[in-house]
Amino acid sequence: MQAALAAPENRHLLEYVVEDPFGAHVFPGDEAEYEPAAFLADLDEQLARTEPIHLWAYIPTCAYRCRFCQYPVVLVHGDTPEAEARLTRWVDWNIREAALWLEQVPSLASAPIGELNVFGGTPSLLPAAAIRRLLGFYRESFNFGPDTAIRFEGDPSTFTVEKLELLAELGCTKLSSGVQSFDDEVLRGCGRKHSAQMCVDFVEQAQRLGFDWISIDLMYGLLDQSTDSVRRDLETVLDLGVTAVVCTKLHLRSYTDTRTGVAGVKPAAWQLPDYRDRLVRDGHRWPSLGEQYQMREILTDGLRGHGYVEHPTMYFARDGHGPETWKSIMVDQHRQEAEVAIGLGGSSSCRRSEAITHVDWRRYSEAVDAGRIPLASATRFSARAREARAIKMALSSLQPLRDELHRARFPGRSLLAEPWRDAFESLAARGLATLDAGAGTVALTPDGEVLVEAIINTELDGAPAPPVSRARW
Ligand SMILES: C[S@@+](CC[C@H](N)C(=O)[O-])C[C@H]1O[C@@H](n2cnc3c(N)ncnc32)[C@H](O)[C@@H]1O
Ligand code: SF4
Repeated sequence: MQAALAAPENRHLLEYVVEDPFGAHVFPGDEAEYEPAAFLADLDEQLARTEPIHLWAYIPTCAYRCRFCQYPVVLVHGDTPEAEARLTRWVDWNIREAALWLEQVPSLASAPIGELNVFGGTPSLLPAAAIRRLLGFYRESFNFGPDTAIRFEGDPSTFTVEKLELLAELGCTKLSSGVQSFDDEVLRGCGRKHSAQMCVDFVEQAQRLGFDWISIDLMYGLLDQSTDSVRRDLETVLDLGVTAVVCTKLHLRSYTDTRTGVAGVKPAAWQLPDYRDRLVRDGHRWPSLGEQYQMREILTDGLRGHGYVEHPTMYFARDGHGPETWKSIMVDQHRQEAEVAIGLGGSSSCRRSEAITHVDWRRYSEAVDAGRIPLASATRFSARAREARAIKMALSSLQPLRDELHRARFPGRSLLAEPWRDAFESLAARGLATLDAGAGTVALTPDGEVLVEAIINTELDGAPAPPVSRARW
């Protein structure tokens, strides 16, 4: 481990990591009890004049539940007409919900879409006709331009050749898939219902069909995973030459506690302490924190050594291909545009406020059927929090922060004046950041990059942790 990581003054940051954060997806506001209707008005105002935004449709259906996954998912088993009808129902709801957003946020229809992501869950489970209808609806109803990219997500076993051909025909150029590991034993432990070979086959097939962007998710810190196994994952990734890799540490603390993601109603099996203990009694093993750091290092060093660039944190793209567009729209300092999420458990935001959609499918469907946008709660950013959020998001991009951009966005404020100067000087004194007053920049050091999630969640608020209670719709 590097010196700065081991230094006693950075111990709380390492401990934060032990506490299992997942810190760079949702940036919640500091003023709870904000009306979702007020969030929609803020969003509408921002969208009236905007650069391209990120739009996502969330399809929560999965054929199985992975033991690590706390996302809001809905299980649909089998290949029967009933299963097909249940899957199709989620497309009906999604389209109905999107129509409500378009009606109640009038500027949304004309806002340019930088990227549409059909995330999940496992959208690739959807029947062909439903996929066609979903993508057709989004294309017709939103402002797609020649540069709008469309991505579709799925697990490797459900991206059949026919589905991939259909997606290519429908203008989808990007794919994301949760591989997690190329080790069959580790995959079994996670409860994944595919083999490592199926992951390789999926990537090769997608490459043959000419998709521009093939991204896979890898996780480290999984049950029975070893550093050697992660080394083999890296070799496979490099052999395949995938466009992008998302490397995530297994995190089991509830997103509901950290508010840095959106959790479903049911906890993941691995979140249950009794279940975790039983696995250990049965001879299984959780990698230690030290091993998790080694795994991270194997992946990050290995990917960087072969021309992959990390931008933002955890998202690696082959040289010249990055950054990951949807994340860049959200977090890059010169962008930080709005994000609109349609579907169960979606997380939407603009510069003044953010909101989360119901995660309970009954409440979600009741709201949509009754003609209400199914937002469950919203928070607003105070002036100070707006500035802090802009800085945190920019740090998570791993790009140097520029004071000139900060001053233009927040007149009269500067990264090099209080309270930020103090925070950055403290990070610099601990080997985690560098300040260049002449150039007006602040950058994380390599050690700072390792700890970026802990830094943004513990050191840049000047205020206690975000609120737990949120306004109800
Ligand atoms: C919501 S899933 C959707 C992907 C798709 N359903 C699949 O599994 O192929 C997106 C990614 O989140 C990551 N993920 C889910 N739960 C996680 C956890 N507890 N810790 C870390 N990463 C997690 C996984 O890498 C997963 O591929
Ligand atoms: S990781 Fe993917 S396949 Fe597994 S339960 Fe979560 S969303 Fe479904």
